[in-house]
Amino acid sequence: MMLAPYPISTFRPTPVRCANDRQALFSRIAPVYDNLNDLLSLGQHRIWKRMSVSWSRAKLGDRVLDVCCGSGDLAFLLSNKVGSDGKVIGLDFSKEQLMVASSRSSTKNCLKNIEWVEGDALDLPFADDWFDAITMGYGLRNVVNKQKAMQEILRVLKPGSTVSILDFNKSNEPLASSITELMIDNIVVPVASVYGLSEEYRYLKSSIREFLTGQELEKLALEVGFSTAQHYEIGGGLMGCLVAKN
Ligand SMILES: C[S@@+](CC[C@H](N)C(=O)[O-])C[C@H]1O[C@@H](n2cnc3c(N)ncnc32)[C@H](O)[C@@H]1O
Repeated sequence: MMLAPYPISTFRPTPVRCANDRQALFSRIAPVYDNLNDLLSLGQHRIWKRMSVSWSRAKLGDRVLDVCCGSGDLAFLLSNKVGSDGKVIGLDFSKEQLMVASSRSSTKNCLKNIEWVEGDALDLPFADDWFDAITMGYGLRNVVNKQKAMQEILRVLKPGSTVSILDFNKSNEPLASSITELMIDNIVVPVASVYGLSEEYRYLKSSIREFLTGQELEKLALEVGFSTAQHYEIGGGLMGCLVAKN
């Protein structure tokens, strides 16, 4: 399927049939999501996102996709990488997150090469072999079917191209996991409660518990058909990035 020539930096509202609790959760946190990211990571998330985008190997002139783009951080970084001859699609199923992304692109002095698309990571509205590179930041942990999401990414990624998937690192080490959980209980949730979002951020702990370790992520990528998969621990082991090649 070809992408229709929609106006740049607007988002295309199409109904998403998989509306569920997670979609509602991300819509609720949309207005404060960026502030909280900066506050809770002390700005470090910007570095992790840069690393992840650079692992995607996106380059000038490429057509690239940021799945679960939220308010658009990775899409904006990709926009600079691919330049004005390239094209970035930021896809998310939360209209509210896309509205924040769209308004940020009008205030940021960014290239006019981003299109915001409302859609489901489990049913990507793109043709096979369509993208030169794909990123996904803090999205895989949140989709209800990780295997399906990986299959969809593989389907729309050109042969030889790379996906870079940034998320929390679920450590094999009990001590590291306990430290992460302590930080969530004692820093993240209390800070989020100032914004009335303690329940929303409490969800982080269970989502990391239920997530996959680096080794399991590599295994999943190879099982769905990627030719190579490597998981890197970053941010002192707090975060991880899965880099897989079609
Ligand atoms: C934690 S946010 C990450 C946003 C952004 N990538 C970042 O790194 O700041 C996760 C995003 O995934 C989106 N999401 C979760 N499941 C999705 C799905 N099945 N399809 C599309 N978006 C989804 C949510 O709406 C939310 O915006």
